[in-house]
Amino acid sequence: MTIQWFPGHMAKARREVTEKLKFIDVVIELLDARVPLASRNPMIDEIVSHKPRLILLNKADLADQSVTEKWKVYFEEKGAMVLAVNAQTGKGTEKIPNACKQLAKPIIDKMISKGMKPRAVRAMILGIPNVGKSTLINRLASKRTAQVGDRPGVTKKQQWIKVGKELELLDTPGILWPKFEDQIIGYRLAATGAIKDELLDFQDIALFILNYLKDHYPTSVQERYKLDHVPDDGLALFDEIGKKRGCLLGGGYVDYDKAAEIILREMRSGTLGRISLEKPEIMVSR
Ligand code: G4P
Repeated sequence: MTIQWFPGHMAKARREVTEKLKFIDVVIELLDARVPLASRNPMIDEIVSHKPRLILLNKADLADQSVTEKWKVYFEEKGAMVLAVNAQTGKGTEKIPNACKQLAKPIIDKMISKGMKPRAVRAMILGIPNVGKSTLINRLASKRTAQVGDRPGVTKKQQWIKVGKELELLDTPGILWPKFEDQIIGYRLAATGAIKDELLDFQDIALFILNYLKDHYPTSVQERYKLDHVPDDGLALFDEIGKKRGCLLGGGYVDYDKAAEIILREMRSGTLGRISLEKPEIMVSR
């Protein structure tokens, strides 16, 4: 599902998230490990400022492991709790309940000090479309618990999903819009499959990927496409790959549409290797 974000949709999304926030102790913010900044909602700090937050770098299986480690440090230095996970296989997700418990401890302790009965920590998953929210919820779900639809202000019945004994997860995630600040962010999101292909030119996205790969992951491209060398020019690299893959039009011209499709598919699926499109050291004040 891809959502077209217009101001009205953004306001509605924000309202829906704010409504859900009333019922939860901890926000689980899901980011794409390959593009942790581009996949972050630009207003997240403002929207969930009053709730403890766990950052998950999802799709860690597709990202460069050493870069993901650097991103963990980057977010930890900003005071966040961070885990790298793979929602598809569940790797790393076993640490989520304990992390939420730790984050919610002050809230639960306060309730206990007021004479209230201790209860499971309540959390919700929040992120941009396609970042893996539903996959994670399904992965964590062991069984569903009571509905809370009769609480004032809740129009739709909310269901809680039990994750072990000490964590309850809202069954519907909060969906927020990605960053649209500049074209590079758009390309990064498109390269990972987070935004609609039709919004950007296929060939442009492929060229963007190749220009990045030739500088940051030349060995991955060289090995994948069996190239003698990696040209220092993205377009020349596009040509080489097109030829190697037999994407040719009459007259020996490269069929860039066909080559772009292959490059994009292989980038998104991880066939090109584990690639991070954002690295903390090359991100200038973003
Ligand atoms: P959303 O709710 O946030 O919109 O995202 P959703 O769970 O639908 O996941 C979007 C896509 O990302 C899905 O692929 C899903 O399988 C994939 N995905 C989620 N988490 C991970 C992960 O940790 N690693 C990898 N490699 N992929 C992940 P899809 O192409 O839409 O469907 P399919 O390939 O599963 O058929």
